[in-house]
Amino acid sequence: MTTKKKLIAGNWKMNGGVAANDALVRAVIAGMKDAACTVAVCVPAPYLSQLQVLRHGSSLELGAQDVSKHEQGAYTGEVSALMLKDFGVRYVIVGHSERRQYHGEGDQLVADKAKAALAHGITPIVCVGETLAEREAGRTEEVVKRQLAAVIHTNGHCISEIVVAYEPVWAIGTGRTATPEQAQQVHARLRAQLQAATPHADRVHILYGGSMNAANAATLLAQPDIDGGLIGGASLKAPDFLQIISAAR
Ligand code: 13P
Repeated sequence: MTTKKKLIAGNWKMNGGVAANDALVRAVIAGMKDAACTVAVCVPAPYLSQLQVLRHGSSLELGAQDVSKHEQGAYTGEVSALMLKDFGVRYVIVGHSERRQYHGEGDQLVADKAKAALAHGITPIVCVGETLAEREAGRTEEVVKRQLAAVIHTNGHCISEIVVAYEPVWAIGTGRTATPEQAQQVHARLRAQLQAATPHADRVHILYGGSMNAANAATLLAQPDIDGGLIGGASLKAPDFLQIISAAR
């Protein structure tokens, strides 16, 4: 059982535009004044500069959606942790299932990206999660354990500095949320795996992601090992995102 402040992070994915971002972020900042949780938005890289200005003077934290494992150099299209740092980025998502699925990212690359982020004081939000076929084959725990093990192995004692997001692939963008019991069961296993690696496992936020919305957030967030949420679609609508934020206490 953990008592730390919850973390609600929006993942905008490849959505947004200068005018739309302005309206959304202003509404979120205005509405989150009494938030009991930490709030972050993970935005497409071209908008980091805009967000740096918009969030100025507020408690909204800034996140990115990916980072290179390399420090700098001839890696066309890549964005380094140092560049993210320039814009005040505090979090970066690594290993989102959409990157694993559409961009061929494997466990070791995800672990290396987490390491690159940590090296520059950016908290990686490491995503793990099984596909529907894997769940139906009874392989959920084996899959998420393998995904997290690579990150633990590569990052050693720094592992207490990461955030983990359990995002069952079948629940992402489908409107099909894991039940609080299903999510808690996996979160408890992830916590136990972290406990075997660090005495500070209780510090690690384990977020749930996958069709979290204003209606289901409170019961998910009430589970003992669910320390927050990684929100896709609902983070693009200020009223929905704000309702999730107020459910996180
Ligand atoms: P949805 O909330 O749209 O299902 O997306 C979840 C997700 O992938 C967050 O990273």
